[in-house]
Amino acid sequence: MKNIQSVRGMNDLLPDQIVGWHRVEAVLRDITQKYGYQEIRTPMVEKTALFTQSIGDQTDIVEKEMYTFRDAGEESLTLRPESTASTVRACIQHGLIHNRQIRLWYMGPMFRRERPQRGRYRQFHQFGVEALGWPGPDIDSEIIRIGERIWRELEINGLTLEINTLGSERSRTAYRQALTDFLTEKRDQLDEVSLRRLHTNPLRILDNKNLQIQEILKDAPVLHNFMLSDERKHFESLCSSLDRSDITYQINPKLVRGLDYYSGTVFEWKTDQLGAQSAICAGGRYDKLIENRGGRDTPAVGFAMGLERLIELVTLQGEPVEIQSIHAYMIDLTDSFEITTQIAEKLRDQGLNVVEHCGKGKLKNQLKKADQSGALLALIRGQDEADSGIIQLKHLREEKPQFNVPVEDIVGQCLKTLTS
Ligand code: HAM
Repeated sequence: MKNIQSVRGMNDLLPDQIVGWHRVEAVLRDITQKYGYQEIRTPMVEKTALFTQSIGDQTDIVEKEMYTFRDAGEESLTLRPESTASTVRACIQHGLIHNRQIRLWYMGPMFRRERPQRGRYRQFHQFGVEALGWPGPDIDSEIIRIGERIWRELEINGLTLEINTLGSERSRTAYRQALTDFLTEKRDQLDEVSLRRLHTNPLRILDNKNLQIQEILKDAPVLHNFMLSDERKHFESLCSSLDRSDITYQINPKLVRGLDYYSGTVFEWKTDQLGAQSAICAGGRYDKLIENRGGRDTPAVGFAMGLERLIELVTLQGEPVEIQSIHAYMIDLTDSFEITTQIAEKLRDQGLNVVEHCGKGKLKNQLKKADQSGALLALIRGQDEADSGIIQLKHLREEKPQFNVPVEDIVGQCLKTLTS
């Protein structure tokens, strides 16, 4: 029979990888607390319309990448490709932003049917923060500072932060028209993708990587010139806050983001160390999404980072992560395992990590397993020890003599040995 393998682009996380994930997850959780963010967990499946209406039906995600299916009730459902839309839905549904503001974070699997390659998967994980209810540049600055703290605490270097502002819906509409007029005149020089976007999403043409298109765009109208003065002030105020926080950034007027809900500030951290998938973390303001989804007019801002990419960077740059520590390994060569089991539980009551051998075997084999487990101590109980009411305590990582300990003293002796 042929073995069934995992689905392409959906990876197992094996025990020796998980340790690194736990470390990164712990740092992320800790940082959310430092800034007063609360966790939200939303379902992995949502009604398809949530994503088509929030992310935009002309976007790559909605057009090509969603895992959509009909459930038995004929309703169209989708595996979430991202979590901003779900977070907004949950906040409106449960009244979490009714006359109040809220800072939230989430972490979990997302699904996009992209072509799998290094750093790009069909099931991947995101950590994200969303602040709902604050209009000002101060919260944009906070969100960016959270990102910077994450890189600092995980000792990740060499990321570049690009920022831009997309202005308000009003200025973007005027700009969109001017850009469309400009590009329509040059339509015979546009490539197929740009032609398709010309009338659906012309701003996305700005981040087209085709050099010929970039050449044409050199003379294109500039969005900043269409913005109102308070929109420009918001952006300038954010920039000076980042300057004061010693955060290095580049203003990239071509950064437009691939999801339709953005307005105002947008940003992205990139690396050149992960091949083609350079974006580690991205986000921005989505001031109109909540109102468009049926909530009250509520400004909001957030970001999400790809954990696979982040953890690959940590692995490339950081200190090796210590494997899970086992303090003691229980070896019992007698016919009854009751005493070792009781000792193991008492040691765990004291906070130690203990592995019981479980299954018979020669002393040599059991000691080999003890060594492989990474345990610091082996506790050995043979028939002679059982008859005399003692346990042998053996150091597995240090050259120290093995010695006998009365059963009633073994817990105290282990604690003493491990702390000395
Ligand atoms: P996004 O740019 O689509 O934004 O994704 C954010 C991050 O998720 C990317 O920078 C990347 O690190 C990671 N990512 C995306 N797709 C994949 C993939 N196929 N495989 C591995 N990693 C991937 C959003 O999702 C927005 N919801 C961000 C946001 C939150 N904006 C406001 N709040």
